[in-house]
Amino acid sequence: MSAIKSVTGRRVWDSRGNPTVEVDVVLENGVLGRAIAPAGASRGTREAMDLRDGGPALQGSGVGKAVSNVNGPIAAALLGQDIRDQAEIDATLLQLDPSKLKDKLGGNAMVATSLATLHAAALNAQKPLWRHVADHYARAPSLPLPEIQIFGGGAHAGRRVDIQDFMIMVPGASSFDEVMEVTNEVYFAAGDIMAQRGDLAGVADEGGWWPLFRSNEEALETLVAAIEKAGEKPGDRVVISLDVAASEFGTDGSYTLALEDRKLSSGDLIDLLGGWLDAYPIVSIEDPLGEDDTAGMIEFTRQFGDRVQIIGDDYVVTNAALVQQAAQDNACNCALIKVNQAGTVTEAVEAFTAAQNAGWTAVVSARSGETEDVSISHLSTGLGSGQLKVGSFQRSERMVKWNECLRIQDDLGANAFVGGKPLARTWWGKNR
Ligand code: PGA
Ligand code: ZN
Repeated sequence: MSAIKSVTGRRVWDSRGNPTVEVDVVLENGVLGRAIAPAGASRGTREAMDLRDGGPALQGSGVGKAVSNVNGPIAAALLGQDIRDQAEIDATLLQLDPSKLKDKLGGNAMVATSLATLHAAALNAQKPLWRHVADHYARAPSLPLPEIQIFGGGAHAGRRVDIQDFMIMVPGASSFDEVMEVTNEVYFAAGDIMAQRGDLAGVADEGGWWPLFRSNEEALETLVAAIEKAGEKPGDRVVISLDVAASEFGTDGSYTLALEDRKLSSGDLIDLLGGWLDAYPIVSIEDPLGEDDTAGMIEFTRQFGDRVQIIGDDYVVTNAALVQQAAQDNACNCALIKVNQAGTVTEAVEAFTAAQNAGWTAVVSARSGETEDVSISHLSTGLGSGQLKVGSFQRSERMVKWNECLRIQDDLGANAFVGGKPLARTWWGKNR
């Protein structure tokens, strides 16, 4: 009864209006699992690659080949497989495409299929997805601490500012609802400040305010001002988190801040960011150096690893081997977990486990191109990842994930919220 009867791909559209892949997995007993592939804009070069059709139509971003791969080889190979065996299902996908970047089947075809089978397995077991994930991978479920974008930047805002995400976290909140309330206040306070300056110009790709700033520091100053305007003391209940996404503006240890027309060496960038860590209540910083700047990442972690969470996104691309290598090098202390960087659920869980084994924290994350798919809210809760990054506090492809956490909370109980615990290693955690 738990055998796969059919696997069907279709083209749907993401939050940026680009085509993407949706997969339906139907079991012999009629159960239907469905998932949609997200898409990144600031992708790591070592992550699973989406298969795109190229050519003049749809700016080359068509997914006809990826959908055909779902309906052809993937469907044929998964037919009759036991839905309860996620590892075997994902191993089958990897046998079909053993390439390093998964560009034969397409990371988009693979991730939508893998997540759809996970949904079908949960429904087949008559469990909500978060519970199925917790049981299947023997984890203690918990509601994550959100990282929420207030200003977008980098590749998500036409490179208007260099830094990609200016975010807040509310580790001092005692419930997920409280995080939502505080975020609402800070988000709109930031909007008011921008409006007063005549700088309010809509939102970036993930719903954060469009970054009409004269410098990266002005964005940080404005964020602090917004936290204060919302009635909070910066660094107390509310703190700052940055995604530098440095691979987007530097390679081979040489960086260019376009906003200020300034060239920086790896050491200069470390000094600049170190200055920000002193000046602003920043507790978490993602990809501070480029994906190829191992020496820079090691030096940054040596200087600041005991006071700030240092997240590897492009640097470890949800890959267990790269997490292990980075842990051995002491090149960061937290892994961003994006299922579509890995390509399959099994590989993403392996990367998460590698992070845990290294004593790191972990953040389950959305991509800048998203949809109504809420798989990550469940994965984050079910794995007990501790933190969840979804984008901002506007636009339904973001809000749908926060709202799903609230529904999960009704099942799981409000005391399942981890609050500031993941930040114990940072100065915020140490000062509590
Ligand atoms: P992306 O970026 O989804 O556009 O690749 C998100 C991130 O860097 O965290
Ligand atoms: Zn990132």
